[in-house]
Amino acid sequence: MDKKVLPVIEFKNVGLSFDNNEILKNVSFEIEAGQFYTLLGPSGSGKSTILNLISGQLSADAGEILFDGKVINNIPAESRRVNTVFQNYALFPNMTVFDNVAFGPKLKKMPKDKIKAKVREMLALVKLEAFENRAIQELSGGQKQRVAIARALANEPDVLLLDEPLSALDYKLRKQMQSELRAIQKRLGITFIFVTHDQEEALAMSDWIFIMNDGKIQQNGTPVDIYDEPINHFVADFIGESNIVNGVMKQDYLVSFVNKDFENLDAGMKPNEPVEVVLRPEDLDLVPVEQGKLIVTIADQSFRGDFYEITAIDDDQNEWKVQATNPSTVGARVGLDFGPEDIHVMRFNESEDDFDARIESYEGE
Ligand SMILES: Nc1ncnc2c1ncn2[C@@H]1O[C@H](COP(=O)(O)OP(=O)(O)OP(=O)(O)O)[C@@H](O)[C@H]1O
Ligand SMILES: [Mg+2]
Repeated sequence: MDKKVLPVIEFKNVGLSFDNNEILKNVSFEIEAGQFYTLLGPSGSGKSTILNLISGQLSADAGEILFDGKVINNIPAESRRVNTVFQNYALFPNMTVFDNVAFGPKLKKMPKDKIKAKVREMLALVKLEAFENRAIQELSGGQKQRVAIARALANEPDVLLLDEPLSALDYKLRKQMQSELRAIQKRLGITFIFVTHDQEEALAMSDWIFIMNDGKIQQNGTPVDIYDEPINHFVADFIGESNIVNGVMKQDYLVSFVNKDFENLDAGMKPNEPVEVVLRPEDLDLVPVEQGKLIVTIADQSFRGDFYEITAIDDDQNEWKVQATNPSTVGARVGLDFGPEDIHVMRFNESEDDFDARIESYEGE
C-alpha cells in the first residue's frame, strides 16, 4: 500500500476536560491516509471523544489537531472533510432511502443527474440497489446501517468516522458487515477510523489499532503486533485471553516465575527486574506430568465449539487457562508445556516509547 508522507490527521498533546474532569490526557497520534484504523477500548475510555474532536463536535482544551498538515482546532465541523456513522443510524425517518443518501450531495448543489448517479453508486456499494424508494421505517437494523454508511460516503469525505456502527446488530450480521465494511474501505481507498469495544472485531478489521484506556492511548500497532507483544497488563488482558503472573527477569533471556527459571526471548532489562509474564491459553499444551514445565491440576473445563477451555491450578494457586483440542478430566494432575517463544515479558509501567527503544536496541544486536 502506498503511504503518504504527511499524515492525514495528527493529534499533538491533545487534552480535554469536562467539569474539571480530565477526559483525554496528552493524546498524540498520527493517522495515515487510506488505512483502516480502529480505536479499541472499554466504555468511557475516550473513544467517541476522539472522534468528536476530529469531526469538530468538540474542541480541545489543549494541544493541536491537524488535518493534512494544517491546524484545524478552530475550523467549524461543517468545513471538515469528515463524516460520521453512528450506532443509532441517525437517519431522517421521514425520507426515503434515496433522499437520505442524496441529502449531502443536494446540500452541495450537485446537478440532479449527478446526484442520481452518486446515490445509485453508493447504494450499490452497500448492496441496497433495490431499496431506493423504501421508507426508513421499513428497513431492518442492518439495512438502516447500510443506508447510514451510503449517506456518509455520498459526501465524499477524506475520512470516515464510524462510532460503534455494528454494535446493535446480531452476531452473524455483524460478521458479514465487518467484511463488507473492510471491502468498501479497500475499494474506495479512503481513511476509516472505526470505534469498537470488541477486541475480536478490532483484530479482524484493522490495519492499525489504538488501544485506549482511561483517556490515554495504551498502545498502538498492527493487530499482530499488539496481540503478540502487549506492552502492559491492561493491553494483555484486554486483547485476547491471557495468563498473567508476576516474575523476575534474572538476566537477558532468563525469566523466573512460579519459583522456576525459564529460557525466553526477552532482553534489555535490569538484572533481577520484577516483571509480569504473559502466556496465551492457545500457546499452552497439556502433557503427561513428567514432560511438563509446570505441574497443574485441572479445575474446570468447558467446550467452546472449536476447542476446550480448561482452567488448571498450579501448586502456588495460580490459575492457568489452556485452550486444548482434546478434553481432559477435572481433578487430573497434568503437565503444562510451553516454549521460550511463548513466554512474553512485560515491564511494569513501561511506556510505548520505552518499549520501542528496548525492542530496537536488542533486535539490532
Ligand atoms: N458532554 C460530556 N460531559 C461530561 N462528561 C462527558 C461528556 N461526554 C463524555 N464524557 C465523559 O468522558 C469520558 C469518555 O467518554 P467517551 O464517550 O469518549 O467514551 P467511549 O470510550 O466512547 O465509551 P463508550 O464505549 O461507552 O461509548 C466518559 O467518562 C464520559 O462520561
Ligand atoms: Mg462511545
